[in-house]
Amino acid sequence: MRNFIDLWDFSKDELQSILELAKKLKEQTRKGFWNNWAQNKSLSMIFEKNSTRTRYSFELAMKQLGGETIVTSSRDMQLGRGETLGDTAQVLSRYVDAVMIRTDDHNKIFEMAKYSDVPIINALTDFSHPCQIMADIMTWQEHRGDIEGKKAAWFGDGNNVCTSFIMAAALWKFDFYIATPKGYEADSEVIKWARQKGANIVETSEPQNAAQNADLILTDTFVSMGDENTKNRIEEMMKYQVNEALMKQAKDNALFMHCLPAHRNEEVTDGVIDSVQSVVFDEAENRLHAQKAILCYCLGLGESHE
Ligand code: CP
Ligand code: NVA
Repeated sequence: MRNFIDLWDFSKDELQSILELAKKLKEQTRKGFWNNWAQNKSLSMIFEKNSTRTRYSFELAMKQLGGETIVTSSRDMQLGRGETLGDTAQVLSRYVDAVMIRTDDHNKIFEMAKYSDVPIINALTDFSHPCQIMADIMTWQEHRGDIEGKKAAWFGDGNNVCTSFIMAAALWKFDFYIATPKGYEADSEVIKWARQKGANIVETSEPQNAAQNADLILTDTFVSMGDENTKNRIEEMMKYQVNEALMKQAKDNALFMHCLPAHRNEEVTDGVIDSVQSVVFDEAENRLHAQKAILCYCLGLGESHE
């Protein structure tokens, strides 16, 4: 089954071939041409959390490939009244060709995948956000080429986006520095896995060390969906804000990335997110193209299938 659950389920070559297809599809889309590879195919999109980019980009990706989408929130489904994920997965398998789900507990993805006869795509859980990082690696490669051997640095909360970046660091072989306050460290099992793969993952509570000479500066909201939004949490995180002074520690041509939505002047200042070093809207755009290629992989369509 061609699920897309986490980056660590794949080799770098498998993921890179999805990105190469994404780049081709982007070029075609820009020329106003789209193919109909997904004609007569349908995608179920289930949201248990808010979304702008994932919702728009997956829906457009499927439609531009000639396919159909059905978008629901779990509240509207019988899932919201206690129908099991297993039964839901078996029913949806009779209707659609793939299921994309955004949820809280990562185990719900495994539960869906266990009972589904069609591919399951992780569109964010509390644990990880692999589709985002595919778009981010694509964005890096478009701006700067190969990422191998570069230094990327993460600031703030060691959250789901950070987890998928650690997996990417191990696969694409770039150094990954993680600067977080105590109590907000990244997932230790994922760091252990990455180090076993030979990755250079450095954890620190000192943001200046992490930023020094970095090629890529990364952050995300200090309070993810489902997290408790306490004044204390924000206060502890403010030391890790990506601001102009922190950017000065990085290389002159360092890029700034953020998956968005941003909480301006909290985790990142206007001066950084609106600067020429910021590629946040390229990342958002590339969600569309990367996800088209992920859909092609999952559905066995187009060049990723040849
Ligand atoms: N980056 C991202 O996944 O955005 P949404 O929450 O808007 O989908
Ligand atoms: N870490 C954020 C990412 C949003 C796209 C969250 O989970 O809310």
